[in-house]
Amino acid sequence: GTKKPNLSASILNIAHRGASGYAPEHTIPAYALGQKMKGDYIEIDLQMTKDGHLIAMHDETVDRTTNGTGRVKDMTLAEIKKLDAGSWFNEKYPALANPAYVGLKVPTLEEVIHRFGRNARYYIETKAPEVYPGMEEELLRVLKRTGLINGRGRTNKVIIQSFSQESLLKVHQLNSRIPLVQLLWYETAGMAQITDEEIKNIKRYAVGVGPNYDKIDQAYVSKVRQAGLEIHPYTVNEPSEMKKLIRWGVTGMFTNYPDRLHRVLREV
Ligand code: G3P
Ligand code: CA
Repeated sequence: GTKKPNLSASILNIAHRGASGYAPEHTIPAYALGQKMKGDYIEIDLQMTKDGHLIAMHDETVDRTTNGTGRVKDMTLAEIKKLDAGSWFNEKYPALANPAYVGLKVPTLEEVIHRFGRNARYYIETKAPEVYPGMEEELLRVLKRTGLINGRGRTNKVIIQSFSQESLLKVHQLNSRIPLVQLLWYETAGMAQITDEEIKNIKRYAVGVGPNYDKIDQAYVSKVRQAGLEIHPYTVNEPSEMKKLIRWGVTGMFTNYPDRLHRVLREV
């Protein structure tokens, strides 16, 4: 028979906050499950503590994903480490609750990299960079110290993403060899449009874009691809949506269910 083109080989399966559909987001078990489910990348959101440590957390406050309250920027790492980052999940999702999640700690970026090593791949977001001056410098320091960036400043294990163009430009200025992805958020009533000017501007520093999936269409994906940019929509959890986006030509996607995407990719 005719050989099907191997579409799936080049489509990245990005475990969003780990396999966060099954385990508490941004904890070691969530990341481990993402790896086990064949995610290509571990997605990590970064916040920075008062004493300058980068931690894996989505929100600027610890309120939603720990048993504590307060702003990360006002807390030391030692204070963050006292918190329970797993019990909230058991309470919110009784059907998925696991006693092993009780008492999980918030990991630092460095701990995550030490745990999963230099063979894993990391898709790291600078969150709220305006709140954390110096977070880009610290990120690059951690990547160097852990060997994810080599002596020549190169890496094939890390993508850095941000909604903040300023933050990406800063990283680009510090190290122009790390692949960057510009995140985009559309809340238009209709479908999102991207102009030639916007594409040209993004291409100066980034290898791709990451839009919310629900406002893009075939035309959007084609335009971005024809310009030579990668496109990794977020956060895609339904197999029907995954299939549609793959048909349109996306080059990866963020999902809380890397197992579902792996299954879909095996079928296409
Ligand atoms: O980084 C892609 C996607 O995660 C962006 O949204 O809020 O989940 O970080 P958020
Ligand atoms: Ca993110």
